[in-house]
Amino acid sequence: MRMAQAGSATTLGGMLVAIDGPAGAGKSTVARAVAAALGFTYLDSGAMYRAAGLSDDPARVRVEFDADGRVIVDGKDVSDDIRSPEASRRASIVAADPRVRTAMVEQQRRLIEQGDWVAEGRDIGTVVAPDAEVKVFLTADQRERARRRAAERGADPVEIERELVLRDQRDSSREHSPLTKADDATEVDTTGQTVDEVVERIVELVGLVRR
Ligand code: DC
Repeated sequence: MRMAQAGSATTLGGMLVAIDGPAGAGKSTVARAVAAALGFTYLDSGAMYRAAGLSDDPARVRVEFDADGRVIVDGKDVSDDIRSPEASRRASIVAADPRVRTAMVEQQRRLIEQGDWVAEGRDIGTVVAPDAEVKVFLTADQRERARRRAAERGADPVEIERELVLRDQRDSSREHSPLTKADDATEVDTTGQTVDEVVERIVELVGLVRR
């Protein structure tokens, strides 16, 4: 798998696999694995909103990814800082600001313009790339999503579930580009499924449009 890297030389007119869905549905794990399986580049659009949330000027922040997928803002590696619970909360708040969304969408479109990509987020298939060749809406039931996040972080599942519900409400009810399934997206419920099963299903979907 290649990681997002601004200015990397890739082929024009590539393919885009858009994976959207709520927090904890498994988007990052699945999108990375799909990118690795297909040899596509992976884009974590949530990392960009997280980086914006930590900035003093979220609508002007330029987010870059280095060759290892580290998230860089103003030359500083913020990859670890953006994963804190506070950063999650702030990301969800700045993501409701239309000026921030416009800036992020523009940067995301520029990145995915060339080459083959697996991009994950909340609005990839609806706003960033409505023409994506493959669109997946990844879901899982709330309890399972909270359990996964809690296991990742060694945190209390009840507390995490509370945070998750708040964040989902904010992400789904905001006026600008709320989290919704694109009409032409395939919904994949990951509850009780292994990562390999989900990846296989998405690679299969890509195979259908590549024929
Ligand atoms: O996927 P994530 O948890 O890293 O995303 C962090 C926040 O950013 C999330 O609460 C919603 C927002 N987001 C968004 O609004 N649009 C995207 N394409 C990706 C993330």
